[in-house]
Amino acid sequence: MPRHSTRLRLAGALAAVLVAAGLATGPAAQAHERQPTLADLARRHGRYFGSATDNPELTDSAYTQTLGSEFDMITPGNGMKWYATEPQQGVFDWANGDEIVRLARQNHQRVRAHTLVWHSQLPGWLTSKQWTAAELRAVLKKHITTEVRHYRGKVYSWDVVNEAFNEDGTYRETLWYKTLGPGYIADALRWAHQADPHARLYLNDYNIEAVGPKSDSYYRLAKELKAQGVPLDGIGLQAHLALQYGYPATLEDNLRRFSRLGLDTALTEVDVRMQLPATDDKLAEQAAWYRDLTGACLAVRRCVGLTIWDYTDKYSWIPAFFPGEGAALPWDEQLRPKPAYYALREALR
Ligand code: G3I
Repeated sequence: MPRHSTRLRLAGALAAVLVAAGLATGPAAQAHERQPTLADLARRHGRYFGSATDNPELTDSAYTQTLGSEFDMITPGNGMKWYATEPQQGVFDWANGDEIVRLARQNHQRVRAHTLVWHSQLPGWLTSKQWTAAELRAVLKKHITTEVRHYRGKVYSWDVVNEAFNEDGTYRETLWYKTLGPGYIADALRWAHQADPHARLYLNDYNIEAVGPKSDSYYRLAKELKAQGVPLDGIGLQAHLALQYGYPATLEDNLRRFSRLGLDTALTEVDVRMQLPATDDKLAEQAAWYRDLTGACLAVRRCVGLTIWDYTDKYSWIPAFFPGEGAALPWDEQLRPKPAYYALREALR
């Protein structure tokens, strides 16, 4: 990485000399000077490089400039969740999701849509009532079918079920599991597939980067679903990592075992948080983690791409959820690239 930043500084200095000498004007020189983006670099490996975003941030033009240029895949951080899309039963609101899809299209970016079935960020009408299994099944089917149809042909993939397992690998006791049993996962995948046969369908979770009880449960379930012909295309590993818990050293092996089941994998919500204040040492370690997790994805054929959970510390979810922690993303709060950004470039080169 230091070698790389030295090279960048030299390139910058050379460009400045050429400009001063009047030698580097004109469109050809400008085209030559344009650095490949993270998306350009990832594309050379047949991968995408994405960022999450959220509607309130889209008024920040310095922010949207990098969002629109550096990435080729976008995930709405909140805009397609149940509370946003079906705030009252049977009344659908696409405003936030549509805004992000529109922006992505303008910028020639694809969309990883997120998320259809989750236990969090549900509207009050759904959580405050006691549902029979038949009622809830109908509610779920209608929600999935309506939302997936609305975005048919406009999104690359769906996180169909989000965070279905506990840390010990048992099913999370959500509204869905408690009322419908584990079969809700296969049902959700089937309904989503009927509504958009071309969208890639994922199960997505955190703390499944390493081999362990939680990722083992996904492995077993994925194997079962594939054997039953359920339309599952991939497993999303969120990768919300934290320096204090250590790097998931078995990430590459884990990605590989899902590949062997005939599934895509993706790192879907990457960030690497730390206890504040951020020091040079912590930022260097963070950069190494970003480099290594990118390397792990590139090493496994069916790991199709990476998405960071927004790109700048200015809009990271971390400080609000983990007080005293933060600095998790490759750009700082002033939208300046951090060592992690250069490490990503290095890993993708
Ligand atoms: O919309 C209200 C707003 O009206 C209110 O003024 C404000 C005050 O707190 O809250 C706003 O809602 C917030 C919402 O994001 C939209 O900004 C919620 O408080 C806040 O809890 C919510 O956080 C989101 C979180 O999911 C909820 O669990 C984050 O933005 C979002 O990045 C995060 O994303 C999740 C993924 O979906 C799944 N994996 C984990 C990841 C991180 O938690």
